[in-house]
Amino acid sequence: MPTESILTVNHLTINPIKQVENKLVNDVSFHLPKAKITCIVGESGSGKSLTALSIVKLLSSQLESLGEIIFNQKKLHELNDKQLRSIRGSEIAMIFQDPMTSLNPVFTVGYQVSEALLAHHKLTKNEARKLTEKAFTDVGIPADRYDNYPDELSGGQRQRVMIAMAMINKPKLLIADEPTTALDVTVQKQVLDLINNLQKKHQMTVLFITHDFGVVEDIADQVLVMYRGKIVEQGVAKSIIKNPKHPYTKALLKCIPSIHSKKTLQPIDYLKLEREMAKL
Ligand SMILES: Nc1ncnc2c1ncn2[C@@H]1O[C@H](COP(=O)(O)OP(=O)(O)OP(=O)(O)O)[C@@H](O)[C@H]1O
Ligand SMILES: [Mg+2]
Repeated sequence: MPTESILTVNHLTINPIKQVENKLVNDVSFHLPKAKITCIVGESGSGKSLTALSIVKLLSSQLESLGEIIFNQKKLHELNDKQLRSIRGSEIAMIFQDPMTSLNPVFTVGYQVSEALLAHHKLTKNEARKLTEKAFTDVGIPADRYDNYPDELSGGQRQRVMIAMAMINKPKLLIADEPTTALDVTVQKQVLDLINNLQKKHQMTVLFITHDFGVVEDIADQVLVMYRGKIVEQGVAKSIIKNPKHPYTKALLKCIPSIHSKKTLQPIDYLKLEREMAKL
């Protein structure tokens, strides 16, 4: 029996307002299986972030979108701002590439995470502090970092704070948009392992965005490959890595040292790729 899905996206199309012919995301449809990690992989500008932002209706006001977003039987595309606010940060949480843009420099990190908790639960300040300190230790930050300001932490610690904030309300779905890109390689691996472990522990569904097939190989159950606003290939990650069908997926996989370690890495030849795609 196929795994139950927690989120369904049907025919999502995004374009700048009144420019229907300029499709930044073009008729994208997919399911997220419950308690699994799905990666969206694709190069810069392929529409990964716009797809993720449209799930929680956080697209820029210069853009418009069409299509259905169904989360746990709720039609998110039909909800108003107030209804969406109660879902964002509680049932669906998001982590972005650069934690400095999400953290407010004038408040302590502990205060900011506890506010995220208090926004959705009736708790005393003291109870919220205790739960926040526990969330910090769960992501590998000492509880006494509660009173630090964001600029007093390292990049890796700030991203852990963002993960603690995302996890504090025990979301059913975590959307992580390139959360490790700004970090150095060893810290990247630690943050990736942390998300992977938290996902397993809480049986959470994760939508993880990356341009790196190496990350897909590490963590993904399912993968969606995006190219120029479209999903060109999707399915079980292991099968696609072993036997890619689409020319773009094949080209992307040839850029990964860990997978084709004995072969020379090949940069993508876009002219050749377009010719191959025209034959499909
Ligand atoms: N507000 C906007 N107005 C017009 N075009 C936009 C807007 N936001 C994004 N775009 C365009 O939409 C396309 C997809 O953007 P998106 O941010 O989804 O790419 P991405 O796949 O996340 O890339 P990256 O890996 O660089 O983050 C890009 O060509 C981008 O220039
Ligand atoms: Mg992006």
